[in-house]
Amino acid sequence: MARKVTLRTLNSLRERREPAVFITAYDYPTATFAERAGVDMILVGDSAAMTMMGLPNTLGIGMDEMIVFVRSVCRAAKRTFVVGALPFLSYQPSDDTAVLSAGRFIAAGCDAVKFEGGARIAPRVRAMVDAGINVMGHLGLTPQNIGQLSGYRVQGKTRAAVNQLVEDALALQEAGAFAVLLEAMPAVAAAYVREHVDMLVYGIGAGPDVDGQLVISHDILGNFVGDIAPRFAKQYGHIGAQVEEVFRTYAEEVRSSCFPAPEHCYPIDSADEAEIQSCRSRPSAPLTRTALAQTALARQTTSPLS
Ligand code: KIV
Repeated sequence: MARKVTLRTLNSLRERREPAVFITAYDYPTATFAERAGVDMILVGDSAAMTMMGLPNTLGIGMDEMIVFVRSVCRAAKRTFVVGALPFLSYQPSDDTAVLSAGRFIAAGCDAVKFEGGARIAPRVRAMVDAGINVMGHLGLTPQNIGQLSGYRVQGKTRAAVNQLVEDALALQEAGAFAVLLEAMPAVAAAYVREHVDMLVYGIGAGPDVDGQLVISHDILGNFVGDIAPRFAKQYGHIGAQVEEVFRTYAEEVRSSCFPAPEHCYPIDSADEAEIQSCRSRPSAPLTRTALAQTALARQTTSPLS
């Protein structure tokens, strides 16, 4: 197995000007495939509220739900650097709340936590860092503040807005954050922020001039169920349509009694089968067909469940 990705690895990627590959995952299989594909970082995002739970925004997911996703991902991601996104109200109320929530993610296997907000939330960063936790900030479009942002809107479109982003990023850096995620802003805004900070800068919808690219796995796989289709999402697959097609074919085969076929049925000794058959009072057509299939397979030698 390749070596575990650490903060050192992420910093050396930046030194070599190699963009880090960052993707969301919320479950064991997806994290396994991401790890096998060699991604550098996984975000167990609170976007799980929308991608996994069908909620209209990220505000309705809590710590207990996030912990299930975090544990599933961490079980798969042995090498990949895992970041857990602290959900709404799991860190805003107090420094203690932030440390306890972040600590639960770290105890569950995360390498770092991510939270949303700038200068006004910087004291929480200091508290988490002082507790020995790696902290990533998140600026620009911060979905936990959609009310204040008046919806999912592109950020950093004016000089004043970009200056505010830099001020917030510097406050996070000063408080000890190792990185910041910039979401939904023109490439020049992200490049400007990056020039003004020393910490790692990752982007989702923030152009190429950052230290790594984050995408939501459902966006690139093509299995997001919902109406939001951000400009920055590139669809590499059509997994949703494929899943639907598989389920449709399965339904057709069950309804037309094509499934299960003989090869999907367990064999039984023919004498035992005959005895059971003789005791049956009302054998149905599909079951009779299955029983015949079992007879045909009865002589094969197989392992108990194969
Ligand atoms: O936590 C999250 O899910 C996010 C998304 C923007 C990927 O930050």
